[in-house]
Amino acid sequence: MKNLTVTLLGGSGFVGSHLAHQLDAAGYRVRVLTRRRESAKHLILLPHVEVVECDIGDDDQLRTGVAGADAVVNLVGILHERAGATFDVVHGELPRRIVAACRRAAVSRLLHVSALRAGPNAPSAYLRSKGVGEAVVRQSGLHWTVFRPSVIFGAGDRFLTLFANLARRLPVMFLACPDARFQPVWVEDVARAITISLEQPATVGQSYDMCGPKVYTLRELVTYAAHCVGAGPVIVGLNPACSMLLGTVMEWLPIKLLTRDNVLSMQIDSVCDCAIPSIFGFEPTHLEAVAPAYLSGETPRAHYLRFRTYAGR
Ligand SMILES: NC(=O)c1ccc[n+]([C@@H]2O[C@H](COP(=O)([O-])OP(=O)(O)OC[C@H]3O[C@@H](n4cnc5c(N)ncnc54)[C@H](OP(=O)(O)O)[C@@H]3O)[C@@H](O)[C@H]2O)c1
Repeated sequence: MKNLTVTLLGGSGFVGSHLAHQLDAAGYRVRVLTRRRESAKHLILLPHVEVVECDIGDDDQLRTGVAGADAVVNLVGILHERAGATFDVVHGELPRRIVAACRRAAVSRLLHVSALRAGPNAPSAYLRSKGVGEAVVRQSGLHWTVFRPSVIFGAGDRFLTLFANLARRLPVMFLACPDARFQPVWVEDVARAITISLEQPATVGQSYDMCGPKVYTLRELVTYAAHCVGAGPVIVGLNPACSMLLGTVMEWLPIKLLTRDNVLSMQIDSVCDCAIPSIFGFEPTHLEAVAPAYLSGETPRAHYLRFRTYAGR
């Protein structure tokens, strides 16, 4: 057991849960701050993980939540805005408040998960707000590291799993931005890089793009996800105008699967020059090596995570 405590914000989510498992296995003491303890109940049984209910919108609770940590990892992010949870608040303001809380609590190490192609000139509000958060972290004066992943796949993902589930049910799928390019990275590889970074001082003050070994178009990914679950829907790729129209229509649905801002995010390729930076010392995992098992639901964990997804947890 290491005598080091890592506090995770957003630790109950997809990436955070895999990270909590890896940190726990590596012997860190892990504190997961969550708005609802119920959201993180799948982590409670891990021997070195403590789940703490915390309103991270409250500065005092946030400071108390990070106090005593040797490092803080911020994994909080949203793909769709809701009342009270805008991109500006979650991706811009929250990092600013986390930096302030770390300073007040004398926590010097901050690892921040952003998104590939985030920046002030990005085409979507999502990516621009992620760029604001990154800038705040880089100017924080803390010992920071920023991770910028392309789309992340793995047990519990919402991207390939969503398409696989739609493909099971629909004979025809209308696909926005079919030619958008992605370089998906495995969630365990992202978690591994973050874990290594905690013990690798050379990663302080660095930003790392994180990608998998191969570039795919969205159409190829959806076709592959469908193939993994034995489905073969007709995939109708939409042109840019129809993609935006689909985003507009789907924004009105109670469950947000696609928005106009998502369509704008796909105007630029989510691909990297080098997949996993060499400082981490491992090669990225191929999608084809892991996706068939979890998409077809053949792992016990995949069953459990699918129930969570359906339950909106
Ligand atoms: N998944 C991907 O493909 C992908 C790709 C690129 C970048 N990223 C980034 O990677 C990070 C982790 O992504 P993820 O897929 O693990 O996300 P996720 O599953 O949605 O989890 C994010 C967590 O953030 C917390 N959260 C969400 N909205 C919040 C709000 N309004 N206020 C406070 N906390 C909130 C939630 O924790 P509680 O409910 O427990 O409070 C949630 O578990 C995010 O920053 C995301 O933008 C993800």
